[in-house]
Amino acid sequence: MIQRPRRLRSNQGIRKMVQETSLSVNDLIYPIFVKPGDGEKEEIASMEGQFRHTLTTMVEELKEVTALGIPAVLLFGVNNPKHERARTSYDKKGIVQEAIRVIKQKFPDLYVITDVCVCAYTHHGHCGIIQENDVLNDESLKVLAKMALSHAEAGADMVAPSAMMDGQIGAIRRKLDNNGYSHVSTMGYSAKYQSAFYGPFRDAADSAPSFGDRATYQMDIGNSEEAVREIALDIEEGADIVMVKPALSYLDIIYRAANEFEVPVAAYNVSGEFAAIKASAAKGWIDEQKAMLEVLLSIKRAGAKLIITYFAKDIARKLRN
Ligand code: PBG
Repeated sequence: MIQRPRRLRSNQGIRKMVQETSLSVNDLIYPIFVKPGDGEKEEIASMEGQFRHTLTTMVEELKEVTALGIPAVLLFGVNNPKHERARTSYDKKGIVQEAIRVIKQKFPDLYVITDVCVCAYTHHGHCGIIQENDVLNDESLKVLAKMALSHAEAGADMVAPSAMMDGQIGAIRRKLDNNGYSHVSTMGYSAKYQSAFYGPFRDAADSAPSFGDRATYQMDIGNSEEAVREIALDIEEGADIVMVKPALSYLDIIYRAANEFEVPVAAYNVSGEFAAIKASAAKGWIDEQKAMLEVLLSIKRAGAKLIITYFAKDIARKLRN
């Protein structure tokens, strides 16, 4: 036997030297939920260690996040006042807009990304404006663009529309450019599937649709060519970064995206993927730390440059040691 692959696995030194993929703290984006009002932060029952923060507890949390060297957060507003046409989503005094201002004042170097979607701002919980149980595409674009502009005005570095409305990146790009915010970036939730893995997030954000489902806007879980078309459209419309979501059941899509396009690819390690590891670790069925590392490494290996993950603080700690 001339070839013996085990020679390159024989001790830790050589294993480290030939490891092809590694995680860096610079790959991480930490999602964070903020709610209006004072008082205590509330732990999200289905997402151990994740909280609905007030502005005050958010600041405490971000001290830890920045001390760990995590470069970016993805902001979500929860417990928002709701409105039929999601007017509250572009309120200058809305919780996300306030949170951005606080972050930029206290942590000027933390990169602030905001989720742009109306599902947490409407009673019906759909990602767009509804007429007779139909989600109206172009009406929704107007609201998404206003919401994105309000985030840019508050100081967001990047806005990330997750509503899966056609043309959402283009509509937001034009709105930002026409109002003097051409320097604000966009990240498309380009290939976002109609997944069962968003369950815990919808508890956290109280954003589950009150009727029907998201099948008329989120992608069918069997499709791959369509993901490529969606990503291509977002890039044409000006997206700086494209995203595949969820990550784990869609590693093949991440791989294609990374190979077929030139822009950085992000992947969202979503709430259900996080909760599944937490729940089985709590039962003693898997080793949480090892499972987390393996999952995140697989997302990176598939081709994601950036990973949005609720594990960001844990992995950042692990990478330090
Ligand atoms: C809003 C939105 C969702 C997530 C991110 N933005 C939920 C959904 O589409 O229902 C899911 C995030 C997660 O599960 O961690 N549209």
